[in-house]
Amino acid sequence: MEYIKTYLSEHQERFIQELLSLLRIPSVSADKAFKEHVHEAASFIAEKLVAAGADNVEICPTAGYPIVYGEKLVDKNLPTVLVYGHYDVQPADPLELWTSPPFEPVVKEGKIYARGASDDKGQMYMHLKAFEMMMANGGVPCNVKFMIEGEEEVGSDNLETFVRANTERLACDVVLVSDTALISLENPSITTGLRGLSYVEVEVTGPNRDLHSGIYGGAVANPINVLADMIASLHDEKGYITIPGFYDDVDEVSREERTLMAKAPFSLDNYKAHLDIADVQGEEGYSTLERTSIRPTLDVNGIWGGYIGEGAKTVLPSKAFAKISMRLVPNQDSAKITKLFQQHFESIAPASVKVKVKPHHGGEAAVTPTDSIAYKAAEQAMETTFGKRPIPLRSGGSIPIVTMFEQVLGIKTVLMGFGLDSDAIHSPNEHFAIENYLKGIETIPYFYKNFTNLH
Ligand code: BES
Ligand code: MN
Ligand code: MN
Repeated sequence: MEYIKTYLSEHQERFIQELLSLLRIPSVSADKAFKEHVHEAASFIAEKLVAAGADNVEICPTAGYPIVYGEKLVDKNLPTVLVYGHYDVQPADPLELWTSPPFEPVVKEGKIYARGASDDKGQMYMHLKAFEMMMANGGVPCNVKFMIEGEEEVGSDNLETFVRANTERLACDVVLVSDTALISLENPSITTGLRGLSYVEVEVTGPNRDLHSGIYGGAVANPINVLADMIASLHDEKGYITIPGFYDDVDEVSREERTLMAKAPFSLDNYKAHLDIADVQGEEGYSTLERTSIRPTLDVNGIWGGYIGEGAKTVLPSKAFAKISMRLVPNQDSAKITKLFQQHFESIAPASVKVKVKPHHGGEAAVTPTDSIAYKAAEQAMETTFGKRPIPLRSGGSIPIVTMFEQVLGIKTVLMGFGLDSDAIHSPNEHFAIENYLKGIETIPYFYKNFTNLH
């Protein structure tokens, strides 16, 4: 695999420039205003797949944004890797907190700053460039298929329909995804679990119109006060979630696995310093790493209502709203949890208000095997390029399609991510280190080689 270093050093500048071009396309799937650009990103990916040597490249329309497909089939007796990634990105706001514009990527101290740099354009594009590199140096060692979607950040609503309609075209032995993080370049890790998600929006209505808070205040329920009370009651003093039945199906993680987790390199002091917080908070009896991976959570993502303009306006508002997410762990069912939330939230509402709960997209948690050929291929690949064996570690984020691939295609996923938790994904000033980008491109060909040889 001598060619990797040579090819990388000759082409890395172009690899970086191409990623910067992709990052200039504001492919925000959540906001209709960016519609044209989301399509533009799909075309960009398709074009680069063709240029790298993929066959049957197609921009497959869906009821939403298209899925870009491409393949290189070398021999039906060889295994097949299906690469999944997403070309859509999260909205960039709050814009004023970015030190450089989110869609005008800049390189500072070896890091690329732009929305999508790490999640997932940078990580997804590593696969295209690794593919190009293999194709330019004798070809791929096994069959490769690409499925790059444009709706991951809005719940992958149309992916399942596409997968069900294309089971033959997508037939494979493993799904390979780079859309997660590793601990650090010094301490590589492979993600072996993801949390599920239940996401709801609540609306609390008090009086039928905004009222003068002097004339009516004190006698009429203020929906914002009530909502705040209701939300506060969703956790008890030990940090447990109070929704009846919420923990019923939770898979408790074994002592052994928890002992193993406790050995993962992690500094609570660095963690706090990085976030500028004096202390952490969470469920009693669990460590920070456990709280963010093997335990379910409930968080308010946004809350609004009443007057939020400049100055003071005395008003007792008619309505209050909040968006609430619950991260779920294996064996919890997102639809069931959404229902439990709804019943509970309605039951705790005082008679002075009306409550509506509107479910959004959800998804199931996933655990990926560590005893598979694909996992070993990834482990050995990373050991080769990092000089250190990666450790398996569960992550707190969600990629709901992992469970869907398992259910629809019967195929397991390997989550070989090269981002860092500190990449500020979904936040202002998202970034991706060039070192991580290149390390990913370097590692992926080893994965293919190992995966083929281990078969
Ligand atoms: N790539 C992330 C998920 C992720 C990030 C997993 C870091 C592990 C480590 C993905 O793009 C994402 O943001 N997923 C959403 C859920 C989705 C249904 C909108 C999430 O986790 O909030
Ligand atoms: Mn992602
Ligand atoms: Mn994301």
